[in-house]
Formats: sequence, structure tokens, C-alpha cells
Amino acid sequence: MNKTLGMTPPMGWNSWNTFTWDINEELIRQIADTFVTDGYKDAGYEYIVIDDCWSLRERDANGNLVADPSKFPSGMKALADYIHSKGLKFGIYSCAGTHTCAGYPGSFEHEFQDAKLFAEWGVDYLKYDYCFKPRNVSGELLYKRMNLALRNCGRDILFSACNWGADNVYHWIRESGAHMYRSTGDIQDSWESIKNIALSQLDKGPFTGTFCHNDMDMLVVGMYGGSNSGFISAGRRGCTDSEYKTHFSLWCMMGSPLMIGCDIRTANQVTKDILLNQDLIAINQDVECRGAYRIKPEPQWFHSDEVFMLVKVLSNGDLAIGFFNLSDHQREIPLLFWDMGLPYASGAALSLYDCWAHKELGVFKERFSPVVPAHDCVVVRARLVV
Ligand code: GLA
Repeated sequence: MNKTLGMTPPMGWNSWNTFTWDINEELIRQIADTFVTDGYKDAGYEYIVIDDCWSLRERDANGNLVADPSKFPSGMKALADYIHSKGLKFGIYSCAGTHTCAGYPGSFEHEFQDAKLFAEWGVDYLKYDYCFKPRNVSGELLYKRMNLALRNCGRDILFSACNWGADNVYHWIRESGAHMYRSTGDIQDSWESIKNIALSQLDKGPFTGTFCHNDMDMLVVGMYGGSNSGFISAGRRGCTDSEYKTHFSLWCMMGSPLMIGCDIRTANQVTKDILLNQDLIAINQDVECRGAYRIKPEPQWFHSDEVFMLVKVLSNGDLAIGFFNLSDHQREIPLLFWDMGLPYASGAALSLYDCWAHKELGVFKERFSPVVPAHDCVVVRARLVV
């Protein structure tokens, strides 16, 4: 038994955002190659996950799922072997209902059989969706079922639940055994979508932590409108680089799993600098996995809901602090150290390190007040100096 499976937010790549139905083994192998050659593996990205549309429309005579031979001619076992040979892990997708969201067979009433097959193939991660759930069956029960099947299939398989925040999932998912759980509807490659998801999860800090992480959905960083799905690209050419940077910062600060959704084979340097930012990844991967608390700036005469600070307590005594400006105008965002538990009278100060500029900013007493452009952010790591 791997005692650290799912301890910190899982990191990897998922096929859905860019490729949806258009997946094949050559693509997946190239993604694995890119993980190694372009530094993703070294940065901590580990799982390569095939989302929906990998199987045939029918199970075989024994009731087993069958990988579509036109997309995966060598079969899933061979693909898993290839991914493992690179020191990476292999993820696949199924659904708690009778069918997947794209209409392929789901695992309902096949949970134990499918978990066994996935283990035989060498699967390390299962994303488990929520479409076509029989109306009279409890979804909570179906996640408990698949958890039991996975934990007894003979292989360590990380369980990634995906019920989009429905049915009060926050209140039963940790106990059910899942290592991460989707808390929102599907992300789109647009600023509005990023902003809405982040705002919807701001007060959900108590519902994330080691071994069961709030999954705010796969990253759209670096997609620039490149999805083959009109829904995901939302009719746009994606986001600006600062919007992608803010997206990544929010997901890191809020403890979300980091599942890349762009085509990393063709990623530009800005995309790599965002996805491979070691200072941000270190905040996301801090072993204690504490949720972040929000501080609203004073005075509150502007759109205070769109301008806020997030503070995440780190295991070595540091604080990670994000200054987020989701509004459409440049803002100064004043942080009074008092609001993080540091009174001026203590005589202590904070030494600040800028996690995007990758440089020390100096020692500050009482307050720090960066000016943040619209849709942008500043993330610092603060060390107490007494
Ligand atoms: C749902 C999920 C998505 C993706 C698709 C696949 O919409 O939320 O993340 O897996 O299904 O059909």
C-alpha cells in the first residue's frame, strides 16, 4: 500500500480540454515524451490521463470495456507500459452512470469488474464522472462503491471523483474515499469561466486538504482557444497571458489539483514559465495542504468581491499570500499584517519573496500594498523576521 497516494494535490495532464473525442495512442505517447523532455516530470507532473471517448460503444461478450482499436491499436496495457517506462503514471476515465457524458459505456453495475480490468491494464488514476446516473440511485453511494472496488483491485489507483459539486458533495466525499473531487461545472477557456469558478470556491477552504482535494477543474493555461470543442473555447481565442498566470496562481493557492489541459507539445515559453513555476508549485504541494483564507481589502468602496487576498499557511512557518485583482481596473491592494495575526506591536516584520518575479522584495513592517493590473495578481511568500 502506498501511504502517500493522493496526499498532496495530484499533478498531471488530461486529454479533454484540447482534444475531447480526438485521442489516440500516438498523442498520449508524445505527451509522455514531452513530460520528460520539457521539464514537466521534473516539476512534479506525474499523471497522464485519457478522458472520455477511449472505448468502443459496447462492452465485449464478457461484459468488459474495450479500448477502441482504431484509436489505441496497441491496447491500453501497452500504453500504460510505455508511460510507466518514462517514470510516469497512467490515468483513465469512466462514469458512475450507465453511460459516460459522451455516450460510451459507464461503470454502473460493473464497478468491481471495471476496477479489476483497469488494474490489469496498469491504470494508476481513475476519473469518475456523473452523467447518466439512474435517477433513483444515490450518487453518494455510487462513489462509495467505486472507492471500495478501486481499493480492492490489487493496485494503487488514485480516485478522482467528478460530480461537478452536485448533491452537496462537500459533505460526504472525503468520507467516501475519493482523493480529489470536482466542485464545479466544466471549465472553459475564457476569463469569465476562470473567474466564476474561483469566486464560487473562495469560501470552500475547509473542504480541501490532504488526501481529498477540491478539484476546480483542469487548467486552461496555454490553450489560447485551441480546443476542438466549441463549448470549451467559448467562441474565443482564449485568455491573455496574465489571465492564465492568475488562473494558475488561484489554483495553486486554493489547493486544486494541477491537471494541464493544453497541448504541451507546442506550448510557448510563457506557457511553460507559468506551468513550471516552481515557487507556485511548492505552495500548491505544501505537505499540510491547508486551504487558503480570504482577506477583503479596506476600504471597501470598490468591487470588493473581485479584489481580495488569499493567505495559505505553509508547513515551515511561512505564509503564501496572493493579491488577486479579478476586476477590470488596476487596483492597489493593501494588506495589513494585523489581518494575518501579526500586530505592529510585536516588533516582527515580514521578508517577502515574489513568486512570479522570482526575487526578494525586502523586509516590510505593518503593511504591504502592491498595485495590481486588471485580471492580474501578485503572489509572495512571507517569512517572519523577529
Ligand atoms: C464531463 C466532465 C468533463 C469531461 C467530460 C467528458 O463534462 O465534467 O471534465 O470529463 O464529461 O465527456
